Amino acid sequence: TTFADKQYRSPIICILGHVDTGKTSLLDKIRNTNVQGGEARGITQQIGASFIPVEAIKEQTKSFAEKIKMDFKLPGLLLIDTPGHESFNNLRSRGSGLCDLAILVIDIMHGLEAQTLESINLLRMRKTPFIVALNKVDRIYDWKPCVNTDFKEAYKVQSKSAAQEFDYKVKDTIAALAGQELNAELYWRNKDHRKYVSLVPTSAHTGEGISDLMLVVMQLMQKLMLDKVEFTNQLQCTLLEVKVIEGFGTTIDVVLVNGTLNEGDKIVVSGFNGPIETSIRSLLTPPPLRESRVKSTFINHKSIRAAMGIKIVAPGLEKAVPGTSLHVVGPNDDIEKIRAEAKREVDSVLNDVETSGIGVSVQASTLGSLEAFLNFLKKIKVPVANVAIGPVHKKHVMNTSIMLDKDPKYAILLAFDVKIEESALHAANEMKVQILSDETIYLFEEKLKKHFGAIKE
Ligand code: GTP
Ligand code: NA
Ligand code: MG
Repeated sequence: TTFADKQYRSPIICILGHVDTGKTSLLDKIRNTNVQGGEARGITQQIGASFIPVEAIKEQTKSFAEKIKMDFKLPGLLLIDTPGHESFNNLRSRGSGLCDLAILVIDIMHGLEAQTLESINLLRMRKTPFIVALNKVDRIYDWKPCVNTDFKEAYKVQSKSAAQEFDYKVKDTIAALAGQELNAELYWRNKDHRKYVSLVPTSAHTGEGISDLMLVVMQLMQKLMLDKVEFTNQLQCTLLEVKVIEGFGTTIDVVLVNGTLNEGDKIVVSGFNGPIETSIRSLLTPPPLRESRVKSTFINHKSIRAAMGIKIVAPGLEKAVPGTSLHVVGPNDDIEKIRAEAKREVDSVLNDVETSGIGVSVQASTLGSLEAFLNFLKKIKVPVANVAIGPVHKKHVMNTSIMLDKDPKYAILLAFDVKIEESALHAANEMKVQILSDETIYLFEEKLKKHFGAIKE
């Protein structure tokens, strides 16, 4: 292939950070700005994944892009919103390199917070390049809103005191990041993106710096990581969620990182009771500018190229395991090899379970988060006897209750970021099985210390 033949896929950009720093609001702003003025732009939204076509980015960043003579080479951005670090784990499951670049959102008024630090550690562990959105600049005292303006323009018109407070906050953030051994600099002062993390000041409310954020991401991808987003036919597809949709049955939400998926493709996905072989009945995405998850709003595709967030309809997906890879079986592929691969992904996590049969029960929302949680329990030396993924049902409580005879301190079910059915709560009450639930590993640590500490005394 010559250079001219090269085709690029949309980079996958993860948005992560501490609770309420404005991750979702930033995404909303990016989408809303395109809705504003009644001009419809093609923005495809998935649950968690939003495709922003390059035309929409060009339109939204127009005046700023012209100023900096931006040359767009990529077809768009696939933005992945994460509700917290656990989900991020899931998205990045198995180190598959799902995201090419991350946007770490920091609330400029709060600086670095618990989940910010966790996110930084995750990014480091996975060697994922990232930039920082220093969000909520509009909350700076006496800040004069400059709706949807690029940041330097907005900064120019601020009062001396507002500008000064902004400068202080930036300085503080840079110092705090230095405390985490990260060099950071405001993006327009950043001369070496390989050594310094760029800070992009933003407001998801008033829109300052939103153009900057999108263009910094585009530029970084184009200047430093273009080879990483070269489109190839090598399929790379990660299962994010399993959902029952009325009229479709059990569906899976996937992120297609590379390659192409077609209606009718024979696929293999990891299942709890072994690999699942099925065929794609429908490939769905919501129509432009629609967020609705109602079935009538989905668009049917014969074929979809990476990168994209897609809902797949196929029979037999009930036991599919989120966080694992989806494989397509081609005419020349060895199906047994693919099945083995699909099985290995699940087994490697489930192998961490105690063979002695004595330990706590653990339930998590995805394989990726289960994996993270099991690692955490290993670290704090809590043995695990049962694991499951998905909501807590009565049967899980019954499994846990077996420990009442064996070793009662382990008759406890740890529900990590999963729903607990009413019947399960009821059964737990009756059988005196304790259910501990929380959405973050961080809070679990406290609860477990309390639980096992109380028993020791
Ligand atoms: P989680 O998904 O729960 O981690 O939160 P998040 O990071 O997605 O934050 P979210 O978008 O839910 O915003 C949290 C709150 O901050 C909401 O009340 C937003 O309206 C507000 N907020 C977000 N961005 C901004 C901003 O730029 N300026 C101001 N003033 N408020 C903001
Ligand atoms: Na929030
Ligand atoms: Mg959010």
